[in-house]
Amino acid sequence: MLAPADIDRLRADLLAADYTLDAVSDRLGEVALAGLARNSTMPVVRALGHADDPQADAIRLWLLQRPVRAAALRGWSSLDALRAAGLLSGDDELHATVELKPHGSNRSSGWICSDQTPLDGRSTRPRTDFVLGASPASTTLSQLVPPGPVGRALDLGTGCGIQALHLDASAIVATDLNPRALDLARISLGLSGVPAELRLGSLYEPVADDRFDLIVTNPPYVISPPSPDRLVYRDGGFTGDDLMREVVTGAPAHLTPDGTLVVLGNWAVTAQPWTERLEGWLRPTGCDALVLQRELLDPYAYVELWLADAGLVGAPEYDRRYAEWLDYFDAAGIEGVGMGWLALRNSGREQPRLRVEEWPHAVHQPVGQAFADFFSALPSAALPDAEFLAQRWELRPEVVQETIGTPGAADPQHVVLRQQTGFGRAVEVDTALAAIVGACDGDLPLGILVGAVAGLLEVDPDALRDEVLSPLRRLVEDGYLLLG
Ligand SMILES: C[S@@+](CC[C@H](N)C(=O)[O-])C[C@H]1O[C@@H](n2cnc3c(N)ncnc32)[C@H](O)[C@@H]1O
Repeated sequence: MLAPADIDRLRADLLAADYTLDAVSDRLGEVALAGLARNSTMPVVRALGHADDPQADAIRLWLLQRPVRAAALRGWSSLDALRAAGLLSGDDELHATVELKPHGSNRSSGWICSDQTPLDGRSTRPRTDFVLGASPASTTLSQLVPPGPVGRALDLGTGCGIQALHLDASAIVATDLNPRALDLARISLGLSGVPAELRLGSLYEPVADDRFDLIVTNPPYVISPPSPDRLVYRDGGFTGDDLMREVVTGAPAHLTPDGTLVVLGNWAVTAQPWTERLEGWLRPTGCDALVLQRELLDPYAYVELWLADAGLVGAPEYDRRYAEWLDYFDAAGIEGVGMGWLALRNSGREQPRLRVEEWPHAVHQPVGQAFADFFSALPSAALPDAEFLAQRWELRPEVVQETIGTPGAADPQHVVLRQQTGFGRAVEVDTALAAIVGACDGDLPLGILVGAVAGLLEVDPDALRDEVLSPLRRLVEDGYLLLG
């Protein structure tokens, strides 16, 4: 594809055209950028008008998929290499065959090179080795990752390289099954000045002997019937959700002690409770785990979503493909599909904690720190009773209490403690628990606070202690209470 020296030349050309995230954002403004985020080009076309400066031409060529006059790029030092690599085609008019999108993260700034996003409602059938650009799922995953720095990190299924661009790691390995993905990731990473070792292969094969402090992956998780024209960026080619299972169960062999895996994906929901099914994957890993199911789709909604993604709406085979997909789900006993987030920590604790639950509510992104805090809190949440009660817990300042009840009533019907950060957890508590938690300011041991509240409410202190211990442990796990 492009040699490293050509990537350097391309970078210099893009900079000379002022085709950078800040400059392009300033020029286009919020409304046009919002249009582009909807894959609509007209707002940008209008914002550019008839301008024929180098930046306008770069925007038309690399973002809008419009041709530009060859003369406009005459001064580009990377022109011949781009043509030779097939990234530009044409003679008098040049067409880009890939997308080069300015990109910035708190780790790097540069460009993402990917296949071209279908624009303006065009419903094209992607090539089977299509390399997706930064999608909403990519952005979500990058926000789930605990902030670094870490030593070695693995971006499994790197695609255009988007996750690697966000990793705060001293060494990055990025893998993919699709050689085109590695070609384009090499350009994204090179343009953005992010060094990474790129390796070709499936799942953990290319890293058989390696261990990482962090593994991140947005794998091809779509649960779909076998098909000769499967889209490698989304259809893993495994039965049901076996690819997700392999990502999870294979991780411990590649995690350092205390290493973390973060995955965004889908899982099949069958007659067996989904939580039990996922616990079956997680338990043998010996790791602590937190799984949040964000959404549950019925088979029809799921199949329609992905048929549309494949550009099949309105195609002659739409009904046949739809029916085949439903038959596949029926045969596998798949009654729905869960979509969510999964994180593992290789903590080596004797009794790993598995939390597998639905959390469809709004969160405060980025939630990477909330995942890290969850794992860090587990040892203190599991302290023996006497030690747990001896700690001076402190309520996180961002927690608010909401009371709901009939106007004028002496007591509220519901008291909810809500986090205003991280996962935005909300938990209903009774008067006693609210009083104990409210008194946690890091000064007095928990046991004393429980005794005092029992006195105020005129209840048996031992009975109250037994009643509140378990919910209090959960509040520690969920980051409401910190060690003072
Ligand atoms: C949904 S895309 C994610 C791309 C990118 N990491 C992101 O976050 O947007 C999944 C990627 O996994 C790659 N892939 C597919 N099957 C794979 C496999 N068995 N092993 C490794 N990567 C695979 C695809 O080529 C694709 O680049």
